[in-house]
Amino acid sequence: MCGIIGYVGKENAVPIIVDGLKKLEYRGYDSAGVAIYKDDGFDVVKQKGRLSALEQRLAQKPLVGNMGIGHTRWATHGEPSDVNSHPHVGSKNKIAVVHNGIIENYKHLKERLEHWGVNFASQTDSEVIAQLAEHYYSGDLMDAVVKVSNAVEGSYALGVMCVDEPDTLIAIKKDNPLIIGVAKHGHFIASDVPAVLKHTDKVCYLNDKEIAVLKEGSVKFFDIDGEPLEKQVETVTWTMDDAEKGGYPHFMLKEIMEQPKVLRDTIQSVLKSGNNKNVIDTLDISRFNKIVITACGSAYNAGVVARYVFEQLCRMSVEVELASEFRYKNAIIDEKTLVILVSQSGETADTIAAMREAKSKNATTLSIVNVVGSTIAKEANFCLFTAAGPEIAVATTKAFSSQLALLYILSIRFAVKLGKISQVEEQKYLLEISQLPDKISSILKRIDSIQMYASECVGYKSIFFIGRNIDYAIALEGSLKLKEISYIHSEAYAGGELKHGTISLVEENTLVVALSNCERLYGKIMSNAEQVISRGAKVLLIGNCPEAKETDKLFHIGLPQGSELFSPSLSVIVLQLFSYYVAANKGLDIDKPRNLAKSVTVE
Ligand code: M6R
Repeated sequence: MCGIIGYVGKENAVPIIVDGLKKLEYRGYDSAGVAIYKDDGFDVVKQKGRLSALEQRLAQKPLVGNMGIGHTRWATHGEPSDVNSHPHVGSKNKIAVVHNGIIENYKHLKERLEHWGVNFASQTDSEVIAQLAEHYYSGDLMDAVVKVSNAVEGSYALGVMCVDEPDTLIAIKKDNPLIIGVAKHGHFIASDVPAVLKHTDKVCYLNDKEIAVLKEGSVKFFDIDGEPLEKQVETVTWTMDDAEKGGYPHFMLKEIMEQPKVLRDTIQSVLKSGNNKNVIDTLDISRFNKIVITACGSAYNAGVVARYVFEQLCRMSVEVELASEFRYKNAIIDEKTLVILVSQSGETADTIAAMREAKSKNATTLSIVNVVGSTIAKEANFCLFTAAGPEIAVATTKAFSSQLALLYILSIRFAVKLGKISQVEEQKYLLEISQLPDKISSILKRIDSIQMYASECVGYKSIFFIGRNIDYAIALEGSLKLKEISYIHSEAYAGGELKHGTISLVEENTLVVALSNCERLYGKIMSNAEQVISRGAKVLLIGNCPEAKETDKLFHIGLPQGSELFSPSLSVIVLQLFSYYVAANKGLDIDKPRNLAKSVTVE
């Protein structure tokens, strides 16, 4: 977690860095800071709290300079406080550092440095980097950075400045993302593309242990042995508008509303020539006797949905594993296993580890990723890209929907290749998928009734989500969405499990959200609804249920007709809006829920 940015160029670095940090705030937001190079040292302002608190400090103490680094933090080592905020400057005031990642051997390094007389100011692991760099520095910043990189264990994306090298900003990364932005007036380092989009759409993606040396008029790349590297400058297709709220009160609402377009783009990306089509056409599913889908959080939930679709269409058994479990379980996989990694950021630490574990056992890895240039996108054997554009809100919406779309199409194509469905059936399913964006638009037009219902739900202490089969899979996502942004306790259960324990929690003033898109199971889910209503609960029924009769205990939000297999793409829109409006009515900070960060790059 954490976001870093750096700039060296003709312009004043301060507003550029602060503006960039705003775009990176989704990565962490418990403190922020900037360090600006000045003739005899660094001007550093660091502040616990949101970026706005740093901005206030900077308004009181304006800084100016042409080179600087900035950081927005999600604390791992050391509580959120002014002193633990980045940038960290070594005790000789020579070297300033921003760090995203975790230094696993920091205690050992700190002890050594303390033994040599170095005084530490903070409780962070990151300060070790600044102190160590000063220790190694003997007139060549790049040399010091290489030595630091060789000494530390763990993950890092670093921006480093030295008072003795007034025109040089150095960047290096391992297991955490870092891009280099190339603009006419100067050069940037950043954790993510939106931070630099205002200035340039030209970026280079750093690989692990590659070093970038930025000056006002040049960027040079080196490997860890100091050998020069040629790196390709890529043009980003995201625009500034993608990274702005565009008049919406929150990114989450904007991103929910973008889903028809994003789905259309994602579906198109598979149908017309390009990477996604090539990958799907190339993959020979008959080589595999097992599919494992592994991911974290919502991406895992997308995998749970996909299992129902793959198993139904391909008649092949599919395992879905939390990446944090998969990586340590000594999974039974081999060269006949296809491991599918799903990740918006492409940087989730557990999913990266799961991918590497799968590769070490000779499985073929296929990733479904939103961020081009991310670790998972680069390291997986094959990668499909969701065309969601930048997703800024911590709670995923449009990326999740695009993951579902790609997983549906993948399973349809696999089913054809395996001879499990005919080409006529394939066309029928693809047609239905191509109709999803319009169906989603029709749900979004009914936003007012969802908002009204949600506004009455702010007082619930606990909300349960139930569903059967694929409705259960999407119930998991509904529950996660609600708890992460509204802070209301919530669990998702398979409808059939209610009677095996959970129903004892149902009492007056419990809300049960029942998903019902499996026509053949409608009677079953309705009998679950009756059971909870008779124990005092209220039910919000979401689904394509023409027979549903509303009562004072049951409210129904109807969904467009269609195959149950793709119904999660419709249910999830209502679930996202419901969570959003519950949280909005509670006045919560929806885009940046407490204790969370967008990409979980640490374990
Ligand atoms: O970037 P990833 O898709 O790998 O992230 C996985 C989870 O951290 C993520 O889906 C998380 O659960 C979201 N905040 C849920 O909205």
